[in-house]
Amino acid sequence: MTTYTAYRAQLLYFTGAPNLTLQSHETDPNVHFHADGLIVVEDDKICFAGEYQQGTEYLDERTTLVDWRDKLITAGFIDSHVHYPQTDMIASPAPDLLPWLENYTFPTEAALNDYDHAKDVSEFFIQELLRQGTTTAMVYCTSHKNSVEAFFETSHAQNLRMIAGKVLMDQNCPEAIRDTAQGGIADSENLLQKWHGTGRQLYALTPRFAPTSSREQLDGCAQLAKQYSDIYIQTHVAESKAEIAWVHSLFPEHNSYLDIYDHYGLLRPKAVYGHCIWFDERDRARMRDTQSVAAHCPTSNFFLGSGLFSAKEAEAADMLYSLATDVGAGTSFSLLATMNEAYKVARLQQHYLPALQMFYLCTYGSAKALQLEHQIGTLLPGHEADFVVLDPRATPLLARRAEHYNSLEEMLFGLAMLGDDRAVYATVAGGKVVHQRSPHQTR
Ligand code: GUN
Ligand code: ZN
Repeated sequence: MTTYTAYRAQLLYFTGAPNLTLQSHETDPNVHFHADGLIVVEDDKICFAGEYQQGTEYLDERTTLVDWRDKLITAGFIDSHVHYPQTDMIASPAPDLLPWLENYTFPTEAALNDYDHAKDVSEFFIQELLRQGTTTAMVYCTSHKNSVEAFFETSHAQNLRMIAGKVLMDQNCPEAIRDTAQGGIADSENLLQKWHGTGRQLYALTPRFAPTSSREQLDGCAQLAKQYSDIYIQTHVAESKAEIAWVHSLFPEHNSYLDIYDHYGLLRPKAVYGHCIWFDERDRARMRDTQSVAAHCPTSNFFLGSGLFSAKEAEAADMLYSLATDVGAGTSFSLLATMNEAYKVARLQQHYLPALQMFYLCTYGSAKALQLEHQIGTLLPGHEADFVVLDPRATPLLARRAEHYNSLEEMLFGLAMLGDDRAVYATVAGGKVVHQRSPHQTR
């Protein structure tokens, strides 16, 4: 039987990049804000979003009406780079990327060979994403098939839109997480055939980063990428200076780190590159020309001391970029907290990221970069009903600050600077309320 649920709330969604030169969002055709809005969900799809007064025809006896008038609904957040197996080692101290990988990451990932453990971590991880208003993520599993099966089974059972893949790594790492050049490729092919397009699950070919894949394995990636032109690709590039020096010693025939991936045919639409900090103009131009996407991971970059991603240079080069947590090097699952740090990274470089743009980057902007804007990232009818319900007065401080907002931009900016999981009142995914805060929780 078809079920209809209607939510009366403030609504914000995008149908394109906000025009930041305009004085007000009200004249921007890409920004849609309804102070008294209504969103109607038919099973797992949105069938109406707009002014409350225009949608009252939907409010008949078949429809359950939820009154969230003091809340703000926007499309579910998209985290474009995160490692689920690293949930249990978030906040592990290390002076740089490479010792962090060696001392904490690799030993933690070794345990995900065990299916039951991987299932347990997957379930916690997905619940944590939903608690933070994140309804889609681009997820690294480990090199073990079990870790991928456990993740997709958990996500599929909850009808979530997730992208994930088996990490490929056949050198320069402990045996417990090492695959083989051909074995890793064969496992990836089996997994993508099983999961890519099963329900809302999507597969990402996932070589960890150039140092941990042999040339033979990268050749295998090139072939798989060619054969399956529809799948996603994800890896890391130009993150820390020590990492880059190591990459140059391993691949002296390439004059740029990005060029290694280019050589193996891994730059293309739906290929997402974590970090992209130490790029030059040529690298950015290659990213733009191939429609590859950078994942800007500010909490991770601060935490490991990796460097500052330049949103300014990315924009100047017309390179696609999105925001991401990169947990476990990232220190928060919250994309609101991530916006806060992205804003400060930009300020350190004399750049400015308006809150409207950061909300765009975490919703429609990311969906478009991942070529999923016809499914998720906005609230247009026909889209999958994945959205986050934010409480602009979630904490005593937010409530006090809210008395003085003069514009939508100020409210969004307050949420980005002061908000985190406490500001996520509820999360709806696949048309179902999958998280709701207790009314008594104010801190
Ligand atoms: N480079 C290779 N692997 C990783 C990882 O797990 N996290 C981060 N931040 N960088 C990496
Ligand atoms: Zn990462």
